Amino acid sequence: GVPIEVNLAPIAEGQIISIFWRGKPIFIRHRTAQEIAAEEATRLSDLMDPQADADRVKAGKAQWLVVYASCTHLGCIPLGKQGDWGGWFCPCHGSQYDASGRVRHGPAELNLPIPPYAFVDDKTIRIG
Ligand code: FES
Repeated sequence: GVPIEVNLAPIAEGQIISIFWRGKPIFIRHRTAQEIAAEEATRLSDLMDPQADADRVKAGKAQWLVVYASCTHLGCIPLGKQGDWGGWFCPCHGSQYDASGRVRHGPAELNLPIPPYAFVDDKTIRIG
């Protein structure tokens, strides 16, 4: 598990990129102000796997969401910016996630997990 550094500068607002780390796909999403506002306003009581958006991003870096790109049902790769919550839609059995990667519709029951990462500087993260 060698850590990797990812330059965020080329990722436009609204864009999602996929990278691989330790053989696993990871999404990095540059969230819009509207997406951030919607996720921050979501009530925990509306969530299947309750977790505040603020606990899924780094402080002061809410525009960046980093999640494993594997549906927590059976591991398919969900499609970005699709589904009723605008987050991800899993084409295998229809699970849906919001723009915080939190599951909003089953059969998945758990949020997309967040890999270990840290900001090296304003536009660079190190995963691992
Ligand atoms: Fe995603 Fe089943 S693997 S819904």
